[in-house]
Amino acid sequence: MLISGSGSNLQAILDARANDPDFPAQPVLVVSDRPGAGGLLRATAAGISAEVVDWSDSPDRESFTAAICDLLDAHKVELVVLAGFMRILSQEAVRRFPNAIVNIHPALLPAFPGARAVEEALAYGVKTTGVTVHFVDEHVDNGPIIAQEPVTVMAADTVETLHRRIQTIEHRLYPKCVAAAATGRLRVQGRSVIWDER
Ligand code: GRF
Repeated sequence: MLISGSGSNLQAILDARANDPDFPAQPVLVVSDRPGAGGLLRATAAGISAEVVDWSDSPDRESFTAAICDLLDAHKVELVVLAGFMRILSQEAVRRFPNAIVNIHPALLPAFPGARAVEEALAYGVKTTGVTVHFVDEHVDNGPIIAQEPVTVMAADTVETLHRRIQTIEHRLYPKCVAAAATGRLRVQGRSVIWDER
């Protein structure tokens, strides 16, 4: 799993695994691009290897991506889960892990891609925003959509209150999607993701 921040989505996946002996994905490695990311502590508390590939130490995006992919390979990672990872990987990541990188985004893509999705949705005045889980392709916040759920925007919402409700959905939806991806239940056909409803 790749993180940059507090790692609440990482925690939701760790909890899903801890609470369900049949949860099909085994987290093996957490990588952060920042030494201080709170999610690193969550990983070590759960007995999972935690590593830092410091973005600010990397000469360019290519070497940063290669260092992360080498770590993922060394841990025999089969599914790469981006959980609040705020860096854009180079194309090498998609080449080395085709249809095996998933991301969660706090808006209904293709609306409001990018790092300020909640703020931009609120500023735009949308009545409904939501959560998108998608495969990662060579463009930012663009790959085939695995699942989406709407969240109603309230008149009194601030970025914080809206993001909190979005995260409640994220913490339920992401473990479900990760489990489906890990068991090969998701088939990508063009832009569509077909769920095998086993
Ligand atoms: C989430 O809202 C996710 O949608 C976005 O970044 C946030 C990460 O939160 N990509 P956390 O670090 O999992 O708490």
